[in-house]
Amino acid sequence: MIIAIDGPAASGKGTVARALAAHYGLPHLDTGLLYRAVGAAALERAVPFEDAQALAGLASVLDVAALDAEALRAGPIGEAASRVAVVPAVREKLLRLQQDFAHQPGGAVLDGRDIGTVIAPDADIKIFVTATPEARAARRHRELRERGEDVSFAEVLADIARRDARDSGRSSAPLIEAQDAVRLDNTALDRDASIARALAIVAARLAGR
Ligand code: CDP
Repeated sequence: MIIAIDGPAASGKGTVARALAAHYGLPHLDTGLLYRAVGAAALERAVPFEDAQALAGLASVLDVAALDAEALRAGPIGEAASRVAVVPAVREKLLRLQQDFAHQPGGAVLDGRDIGTVIAPDADIKIFVTATPEARAARRHRELRERGEDVSFAEVLADIARRDARDSGRSSAPLIEAQDAVRLDNTALDRDASIARALAIVAARLAGR
């Protein structure tokens, strides 16, 4: 069973994806970490975001097993990730490993922006997790403050709006809801309620087979 979870920044798709993976005993890939790793490497080596070839080079030598999820979730890396993610050559380099992960025997859960549309259009279940920009910014603000980052709510909201526009407006694999996705708007739901809704969506889909 392949489960594809897509949605905009800080929508809680990672939380939902991890919970579904644990519940069904499936491996999980947070594909945002791949773009974050390329973005972080670009920042570290001062590679310009306009240099598509150099960015693709960074993507092609990515060591997926060595990704430091905790460090990659720092605020500035999200912005760098969304900048490298508009580069088609970067997406191309990361395509195969995501497709292979999705299609491993037994299935998998992947979360990102283009899982149900590009990486695994054949996924058994597609969930589009979303919430208002204000609700998403409030969550991300809390997360970053807990990490000790000194950032205002207004800055986080502006960052989310900018990334939403970039992710939705790019020509290569833009963030769009797959036609056959079930929408999970968790603006008014807490973490547990959001997970419960996702589990119910999967159970209903499996029952209807
Ligand atoms: O957690 P958050 O939603 O802030 O970010 P993320 O899921 O870690 O993704 C970081 C950035 O990577 C996004 O803003 C996207 O531009 C990009 N991304 C993408 O283009 N395609 C994916 N499948 C996953 C992430």
